[in-house]
Amino acid sequence: MEENERQLIGRTVEFVKKQLSGAEGGHDWWHIYRVWKIAGRIAREENADLFVVDLGALLHDIADAKFHDGDEEIGPRKAEIFLHSMQVEDSVIEQVLHIIRHISFKNRNEQPANISKELQIVQDADRLDAMGAIGIARAFNYGGYKGRLLYNPSVKPNPNQTKEEYKAAKAPTINHFYEKLLLLKDMMNTSTGKRMAAGRHCFMEQYLTQFYDEWEGEK
Ligand code: ADP
Ligand code: NI
Repeated sequence: MEENERQLIGRTVEFVKKQLSGAEGGHDWWHIYRVWKIAGRIAREENADLFVVDLGALLHDIADAKFHDGDEEIGPRKAEIFLHSMQVEDSVIEQVLHIIRHISFKNRNEQPANISKELQIVQDADRLDAMGAIGIARAFNYGGYKGRLLYNPSVKPNPNQTKEEYKAAKAPTINHFYEKLLLLKDMMNTSTGKRMAAGRHCFMEQYLTQFYDEWEGEK
């Protein structure tokens, strides 16, 4: 990466930290930090454009629609204004906006057929951060933030939710494992992502087994 690109990444880090000050713990700067690290690792293994991947990872959640009355254009718009102000080339801006627009799990049924390698990588990184030990912590943190129950055996999960049902869900946090977290392993794009997802998936399954055993006082 060239020196001016490295400087721009530094400025972007500062911008994103400021945008996310006060964010909920699962969608804060440290979520971005982890996604940025995972994405960089995958990008190197997959020979992708690291500059685009870094910018996409850093800017992918600066204005999540679910914290902005469902407005899905506010994130891409803010990112575009920022990148223009930094004199980033139009072709790079286009590639970064492609990532921000299409990364989300809830829009998985509307994803275009031809997604860029850089989007595939940042999407894998974002999904990996929803899995494993960190994914479990984030899910319960989000559930607490939303006032959800941990678990209720009489509320059954629905893994085939529509986008509207997914967004409106008020179910206990354990259901989110079946409605999203355990589905991610089979949605990975890259071979590095698949390999990392396998380990994190296995950890979540062990966690759930222990959880149910403890729920019934069996362990
Ligand atoms: P996306 O933005 O990719 O569509 P979300 O923003 O809905 O996905 O989810 C991001 C993370 O927020 C999830 O991985 C999870 O950690 C947490 N989360 C979202 N919805 C729920 C929920 N209903 N219960 C628990 N955690 C949730
Ligand atoms: Ni994210």
